[in-house]
Amino acid sequence: MQTLNDVATLREMLAEHRRAGRTIGLVPTMGNLHAGHLALVAEARRRADVVVATIFVNPMQFGPNEDLDAYPRTLADDQAHLEAAGCDLLFAPDVATVYPRGLDAQTRVSVPEVSEGLCGGDRPGHFDGVATVVTMLFNLVQPDLACFGEKDYQQLAVIRRLVADLHLPLEIVGVPIERAEDGLALSSRNGYLDTAQRAVAPELYRTLCALREALEGGEPVDDSLTRGLERLREAGFVPDYLELRAADLGPVGDTTRDAVLLTAARLGPTRLIDNLSLTLPR
Ligand code: PAF
Repeated sequence: MQTLNDVATLREMLAEHRRAGRTIGLVPTMGNLHAGHLALVAEARRRADVVVATIFVNPMQFGPNEDLDAYPRTLADDQAHLEAAGCDLLFAPDVATVYPRGLDAQTRVSVPEVSEGLCGGDRPGHFDGVATVVTMLFNLVQPDLACFGEKDYQQLAVIRRLVADLHLPLEIVGVPIERAEDGLALSSRNGYLDTAQRAVAPELYRTLCALREALEGGEPVDDSLTRGLERLREAGFVPDYLELRAADLGPVGDTTRDAVLLTAARLGPTRLIDNLSLTLPR
């Protein structure tokens, strides 16, 4: 696997693959890779001839009080994991390469509606930062497909919408959540949890599973969500939100069948997110 930092070499190498008729699969990441990321690489490996991963801790998607500086940078380990997973090319640019005019002067991509509420409500500007950098990566790599984790359900919806709205010629592949044995969704942020918090963290998933059972059994939505919030607070979480939405993130109506429970909750300073799809009864 080759690691590149500059745009010109990246473009040259990818043009060569395209001329040879090879398809390209992209896996955008912010590094500090875990099994969830490697599942994205494995999916891209199954679907494309050439797998390109990117590692870029994108300052535009972090709020002023968020963990940009503390975000773990683990390039050497990440390179070893990517190589073992069958990645062909790693693009790991620095901030000046991606935003040469600085963040304030940067053209931005903003995706209305799906970016609003949920994590977009708690993290103003976050999805503009994601949409901007992902659009840029799509333009730099020009992949046939790109793989994203379903753990970041709203992010995936934002990316699907921007690809549709901007008529971008690539397929977006959602990859199911990878979980630890106790159910905790794998996340780079799990590394911030101390031993006691790590023991509590799977309660987030267990709460979603209990709510799914209740909702699929016909329990009223408001009752389920109130009970879920109480359960999370009792376990020691400070929930940012716990919501039921239609699978496309629209509101749940009388005819909605495919739905998704979404939550973000803090354990100490660490913000965890999770979601679970379900089918509402008729
Ligand atoms: O999910 C992530 O790691 C990031 O939000 C992404 C998609 C790589 C954009 O910076």
